[in-house]
Amino acid sequence: MRVLGHLVPYFKRYPAKLASGIACIALAVTAGLFGPIIVGRAVDSFVEQASSATLFRYGLLLVVVTAVQGVFSFGQRLILVSLSRDIEYDIRNDYFEHLEALPLSYYQRNYTGDLMARATNDLQAVRMLCGPAIMYATSTLLTASGALFFMIGIHWRLTLLSLAAMPLVAVTTQVFGQRIHVLFDKVQEQFSSLSTKVQESLSGARVVRAHAREASEVEAFERTNAEYVRRSKKLIRWTTAFHPLLQLLVGLGFVAVLWFGGTLVWRGEISVGEFVSFNFFLSKLVWPMIAIGWVINLVQRGTASLGRIRRVLETEPEIIDLSPGSADAIVGALGMSQLSFRYPGSDESVLADVELELGAGETLGIVGRTGSGKSTLLSLIPRLLDPPSDRVFVDGRDVRFLSLASLREAIGVVPQEAFLFSTSVAANIALGKQGADPEAVARAADLAGLATDLESFPKGLDTLVGERGLTLSGGQKQRVALARALVRDPRILLLDDCLSAVDADTEERILRNLRRVFVGRTVVVVSHRISAVRQADQIIALDRGRVVERGSHADLMKLDGAYADLARRQQLEEELAAV
Ligand SMILES: Nc1ncnc2c1ncn2[C@@H]1O[C@H](COP(=O)(O)OP(=O)(O)O)[C@@H](O)[C@H]1O
Ligand SMILES: [Mg+2]
Repeated sequence: MRVLGHLVPYFKRYPAKLASGIACIALAVTAGLFGPIIVGRAVDSFVEQASSATLFRYGLLLVVVTAVQGVFSFGQRLILVSLSRDIEYDIRNDYFEHLEALPLSYYQRNYTGDLMARATNDLQAVRMLCGPAIMYATSTLLTASGALFFMIGIHWRLTLLSLAAMPLVAVTTQVFGQRIHVLFDKVQEQFSSLSTKVQESLSGARVVRAHAREASEVEAFERTNAEYVRRSKKLIRWTTAFHPLLQLLVGLGFVAVLWFGGTLVWRGEISVGEFVSFNFFLSKLVWPMIAIGWVINLVQRGTASLGRIRRVLETEPEIIDLSPGSADAIVGALGMSQLSFRYPGSDESVLADVELELGAGETLGIVGRTGSGKSTLLSLIPRLLDPPSDRVFVDGRDVRFLSLASLREAIGVVPQEAFLFSTSVAANIALGKQGADPEAVARAADLAGLATDLESFPKGLDTLVGERGLTLSGGQKQRVALARALVRDPRILLLDDCLSAVDADTEERILRNLRRVFVGRTVVVVSHRISAVRQADQIIALDRGRVVERGSHADLMKLDGAYADLARRQQLEEELAAV
């Protein structure tokens, strides 16, 4: 229940809506309470031989009261439901903003589908909690206390009798509420699994088709879906049994009132009109009794869902900006000293004692087998992964103490796995820099070696790519990602085997083009091709996280170690390919 406190700040943003909404509830309830009194008076006036004028007066009064009640009920719904939408909007924004701040590792540990389910299903349950639940709880509470007040005024012993079933109602609500809560959690959990399943099948559609796994995917989906239905049905059995049971208990109250109340009228202790009023008030209590069960249900669902959303919101972004807001001018010298790294939760060192000294404007080449730690090494520089303190330096300063925004702004990273959004090529490139102008985008595309490809695209740079547009080849995607990094004119450029999907000749040509861009920038080129790194000022060969060879191309060839071996092998392959 403590989790509910987290909603307070959201409500505080809308004091006027909250206050006027509650005021509407109070007015609607008050107007509603006049109904039974008026009817009771009317009945009594009949007994005393009323005129048709009196009847008309009571009738008119009843119409007015009902109209007032209607107007305020309308207002209450309008205001409070809109308030719940406002809060839903705010929470959804906070949720998304927080997701954007979470580190990459978070997404490796959590399923996308699950994160999406929290933003949809769970958020809806929270909205129901903020709107309907609060609305019905307040109106129920006010109606119940008002009705009880008048009922006690008519005859307190009759009131007690009519409420005899109340403890039973409370117990039933408690038992069912608890059970429904647990079942709802299980339904929600399964819905997350279902979302994850769908999301993965759709994202992996290519793989599924390529391996002809459609049937087994469908089967797995059906299993997950069936489990969701099974759990939902179990929940339905409990919720549907709940309401009739409550109504039965309420009905017992009416029987008792009819019997004892009738006797009281007979004995002249209460008037017929009062007896009628009493019954009307009692029937006003029926809805609150049922509504309470429903409200408890909504509150329990809402708190469970809010808890699930909070768990994401309370995940601290592991990578913390220690100099927020400040701007650091970055020149581009890179340094690493005794850098060892292991992934959180793993006890295997991915990097061990890496030493590096690279002057601003120099180029470093990194070669090494898959899994030797090249990508990890690069990720530590812009703090996509957080390095240990005092191990990674830019301009001689620990990267952990540079402002995160300045650091990342100064670095252009081109990953091996290029991800393009479903928008135009130009927009994908412009993503690299806020407010990039079209000329800069075109220039970056040109430098990345996209010129000829763009000519063949139907609308050049404005061609849509991705799910709704043109499907680019792996090499084209990589070059768009390269252009995205170039457009920001970064001081430090990190290329993580980013041309692996283009053939050696094209890579050669693009790199030749890029050498102009490299001038005056610090560049790290990771490649599995010697031709891509041979021009670098410094080359390191990584093996299982250790630097095993270091020097210029000429040095390393002379050393005649792993690097020279790789170079000879690739030379041979090239010659064979040329034949
Ligand atoms: N998120 C991760 N969690 C745990 N281990 C990882 C993670 N990413 C990579 N690794 C491991 O770190 C090692 C180096 O990976 P990586 O830096 O990607 O190598 P490379 O880029 O040279 O192929 C590999 O053994 C890989 O399994
Ligand atoms: Mg890699």
